Amino acid sequence: MKSYIIVAAAALTSVAAATEGAPAAPSLMYGNTSHLLGANSSGIPPCDALTDAGLGDRLLFATDADYEPQIATWWAENARKRPYCLVMPQSSEEVSTALTALVNVNDGAGDWHIAVRSGGHSSTGSSSIANGVIIDLSNMNTSTYDAEANVAKIQPGARWNKAYAELDKEGVTVAGGRDGGVGVGGFLLGGGISYYSGRMGFGCDTVVNFEVVLADGAIVNANETANADLWRALKGGGSNFGIVTRYDMEAIPAQDLYYDSRLLSSVYSDAVVDAAVGFADQDQSLADNHLITFFSHDTSTSPDIHAATIYVNTQGNGSVETAFDKVQDLPALYNTTVVQSMAEAANGSQVAAGSRAAGATLLFRSDPQILRRAAEIHAEFVESLKGFMTADEFVTMWFFQPIPSYMSAISQQRGGDMLGLDEVRQNAIMWTGGAWVNTDDAAFARAQAELGKATARVKEASRSMNGDIDFIYLNYADASQDSLGSYGPANVEHMREVAARYDPTEVFQLRVPGGFKISSVA
Ligand SMILES: Cc1cc2nc3c(=O)[nH]c(=O)nc-3n(C[C@H](O)[C@H](O)[C@H](O)COP(=O)(O)OP(=O)(O)OC[C@H]3O[C@@H](n4cnc5c(N)ncnc54)[C@H](O)[C@@H]3O)c2cc1C
Ligand SMILES: *[C@@H]1O[C@H](CO)[C@@H](O)[C@H](O)[C@H]1NC(C)=O
Ligand SMILES: *[C@@H]1O[C@H](CO)[C@@H](O)[C@H](O)[C@H]1NC(C)=O
Ligand SMILES: *[C@@H]1O[C@H](CO)[C@@H](O)[C@H](O)[C@H]1NC(C)=O
Ligand SMILES: *[C@@H]1O[C@H](CO)[C@@H](O)[C@H](O)[C@H]1NC(C)=O
Ligand SMILES: *[C@@H]1O[C@H](CO)[C@@H](O)[C@H](O)[C@H]1NC(C)=O
Ligand SMILES: *[C@@H]1O[C@H](CO)[C@@H](O)[C@H](O)[C@H]1NC(C)=O
Ligand SMILES: *[C@@H]1O[C@H](CO)[C@@H](O)[C@H](O)[C@H]1NC(C)=O
Repeated sequence: MKSYIIVAAAALTSVAAATEGAPAAPSLMYGNTSHLLGANSSGIPPCDALTDAGLGDRLLFATDADYEPQIATWWAENARKRPYCLVMPQSSEEVSTALTALVNVNDGAGDWHIAVRSGGHSSTGSSSIANGVIIDLSNMNTSTYDAEANVAKIQPGARWNKAYAELDKEGVTVAGGRDGGVGVGGFLLGGGISYYSGRMGFGCDTVVNFEVVLADGAIVNANETANADLWRALKGGGSNFGIVTRYDMEAIPAQDLYYDSRLLSSVYSDAVVDAAVGFADQDQSLADNHLITFFSHDTSTSPDIHAATIYVNTQGNGSVETAFDKVQDLPALYNTTVVQSMAEAANGSQVAAGSRAAGATLLFRSDPQILRRAAEIHAEFVESLKGFMTADEFVTMWFFQPIPSYMSAISQQRGGDMLGLDEVRQNAIMWTGGAWVNTDDAAFARAQAELGKATARVKEASRSMNGDIDFIYLNYADASQDSLGSYGPANVEHMREVAARYDPTEVFQLRVPGGFKISSVA
């Protein structure tokens, strides 16, 4: 299957076609309104501006048959807002043309805004917009490998399962997402926890170059030698600086993973907690091992709350002794052990889309007492949801992910990022609470309120045991949490300076409101 080559060729020819046929630039003050007299005008100035800019073939309107199917590609129901139109560029040049046209139309007049979308897996809805236009990068989804530089060049609209499948053919992989449906674009701007995090740090730490479309339409590289301040800011700093049109990641030799996944009765909660804590406390010689643990209410897999684990050895070695071993000896409700490629693992671990999803996250010291209390809070949370939904109308997931302190040293060695974990200096557990609601918006609002209360209680529990850490991981944060503000004053200052330097007119603060904005950090 060489379809990605055809896709790349198609993208190249369409740039040429679009550029040739493009009309003259509209006047900056009022825009070129001559099309409004034409029979083909949508009557919506930003969408007409895109047509005028030569991108008419890239637009989707609500009246088009492909519009609803495209909206359905956002992961969660609550993130599926319906814009005036979507523009689906096929090249960096088209992204630049689209952004420039949108920013200039009527000099920004009107109560509408712009959203940028890669894989659409943000559950805060930050990649979608109702009153405005979405720049949807889904059609920029190829991955290629530069063997000489050992770099994988990945377009933002790729989902990780597709990126891995294409790179596998070249014998390499990258430190990307674990769920195959997650998009490359948002994942890497928010950090990115991968199976390789023990070895490589966050996914963003392995990005050696970003190709970025800036607010003024310029297409630039950001790497260690060119625009190095922007390079560092983009590593974890989110959607504050530009639209990334290509991520060049250090490639890793492809190697099948040893992949063990289990469901256990919650009577074994303590053992699962001990495995998570033990993993966070392991030394760096075990960096090729990775563990995800979570507690869950999900009647489709088990009537009661259960614990789940995914243990991976990235070298394909199942006989390494780790803190997970004790869990392997316990009777499981379900277990599977396979040796498989990253593409297969990503394919097989896609969380089903559709329902309304809420999430929130915290970090705390790797203390089993805190995790046990957090697990109790999960059980209480599930009971609170049962107060207004039947047991099969919702699913919860309560993750405990080990974050050993040596991960921040890896980030530093790779040029530094915005997450500020170097200030933490202790082995930690990242807690992420999630709730999926299958009924209606009213029940979802109540579930969100209950999740907020549960988050406050987990925070309080960690504080009361002197284990709270002021770090809120952007990729899992609820919109109400101050993620960027938790990354420390030096990083906040760096992000402010870089945003001011590369986006002096504040397009990414004011016109692209989605995502955590550095201008809203106190
Ligand atoms: C089921 C599931 C599994 C997950 N697994 C993991 C995991 O293993 N590890 C982990 O770290 N995280 C994980 N996440 C979190 C995930 O990384 C974030 O939700 C991430 O934002 C998704 O990226 P996306 O491109 O799909 O999202 P989108 O919704 O498309 O974008 C998210 C944000 O980034 C901005 N953005 C996207 N692309 C660009 C771009 N090219 N340029 C500028 N701004 C852009 C958007 O405007 C938006 O604000 C998971 C999430 C889900 C729902
Ligand atoms: C306005 O757009 C029309 C086509 O839509 C084009 O023919 C015309 O030259 C443009 N005028 C200016 C001043 O750009
Ligand atoms: C309207 O769009 C159609 C189809 O794209 C095209 O053939 C036609 O020339 C356009 N008409 C005008 C007035 O631009
Ligand atoms: C990937 O891009 C191609 C065109 O560039 C498009 O046909 C295809 O639908 C895209 N894939 C996804 C999942 O959006
Ligand atoms: C960094 O950017 C410069 C300027 O565009 C470019 O010449 C160089 O190749 C880039 N380096 C990497 C590692 O991509
Ligand atoms: C697997 O790990 C064990 C324990 O660390 C080691 O003895 C063995 O050599 C490893 N096997 C391979 C194939 O690397
Ligand atoms: C794992 O599953 C197999 C069947 O697939 C079963 O025989 C075995 O007992 C299970 N292991 C545990 C620890 O439950
Ligand atoms: C991933 O899943 C898709 C769709 O089910 C399938 O076509 C593809 O072969 C799978 N890839 C791998 C590597 O398992």
